[in-house]
Amino acid sequence: MKILVTGGAGYIGSHTVKDLLKHGYEVVIVDNFSSGHPELVCGGQVIQADLRNKEQIADIFRQHKIDAVLHFAALIQVGESYQDPQKYYLHNLLTSLNLLETMLRHQVKQFIFSSSAAVYGAPQKIPIEENHPLNPVNPYGTTKFMVEKILADYSRAYGLRYVSLRYFNAAGADPEGELGELHSPETHLIPNILLHLLGKNPDFQVFGHDFPTPDGTAIRDYIHVTDLARAHVLALERLLAGSDSQVLNLGSSRGYSVLEVIKEAEKITGRKVNIKFGPKRLGDVPVLLASSRLAEDWLGWERKYSDLETIIRTAWEWHQKH
Ligand SMILES: NC(=O)c1ccc[n+]([C@@H]2O[C@H](COP(=O)([O-])OP(=O)(O)OC[C@H]3O[C@@H](n4cnc5c(N)ncnc54)[C@H](O)[C@@H]3O)[C@@H](O)[C@H]2O)c1
Repeated sequence: MKILVTGGAGYIGSHTVKDLLKHGYEVVIVDNFSSGHPELVCGGQVIQADLRNKEQIADIFRQHKIDAVLHFAALIQVGESYQDPQKYYLHNLLTSLNLLETMLRHQVKQFIFSSSAAVYGAPQKIPIEENHPLNPVNPYGTTKFMVEKILADYSRAYGLRYVSLRYFNAAGADPEGELGELHSPETHLIPNILLHLLGKNPDFQVFGHDFPTPDGTAIRDYIHVTDLARAHVLALERLLAGSDSQVLNLGSSRGYSVLEVIKEAEKITGRKVNIKFGPKRLGDVPVLLASSRLAEDWLGWERKYSDLETIIRTAWEWHQKH
């Protein structure tokens, strides 16, 4: 089976490529290296191309008989998506339309999509289940929401079968130490704490300390990237076995506040975080927590690494080396 992985040189894509290769799949990676890294490519054939360019995508499908596509490639910075929404619609929406059009032309009808908890917007009910109303509050989340709508329409009209995976906060690094998180700029909590502890910034800014949560800081659901990767390969297996389309949350169903994460990072690293409290960021909600029951049942998915200690320890081992 030959699987096309877009964004396979990025954080989550590279961990998934590793799992695919371990399970005997042939992998073709397409990445423009805008935020991906050659050192995160642990195997497979790499094609440097930009998914905004339809001709480049068509070339890949002409050269390879692809059985299914895992689509990770996207821009991921929520703040930037407010400032430059066009960039996000071109990179996240146009790329997906181009890819789907080419897939359908080549009769490739199995697709796994990297969606996000950002499709929900401010939660009305916690934990968030997949049937929660979708009300994205930033252009990044809107691009994911729009692609999900397109997938539902294409599936009905053209027989496309897809799994849309709504990740909560991906975190941690490959437990074997080969891969990890390398975003620039880094906007995620755990790597930023660790980079601060490695001396990158003199203090660590916590956004908001008056949320209605027990310690006043925002609570989020962190899911280990290796568990996320596993869920993709399980979803692929279900699609290849002929199953219908599905939308699934992927989280740990356990929330941690920013201060709890900092405390755990201090324990694991033996270093002290120099906290500076700042204002809340636009659109930040007090609590985001997934129900992942459907993914557990439908995929037979078990989380092995998503406890906070393992997430931070694996990320720390990676960041110390990079
Ligand atoms: N990291 C998270 O916590 C998180 C949470 C929810 C959803 N997601 C989604 O998961 C996916 C992967 O996220 P990540 O954290 O691994 O990001 P990443 O930036 O590490 O990886 C994205 C990859 O896509 C590539 N890419 C971007 N635009 C491209 C284009 N036009 N053509 C070809 N390649 C392109 C980049 O070079 C990079 O290798 C994204 O779709 C993101 O929206 C991530």
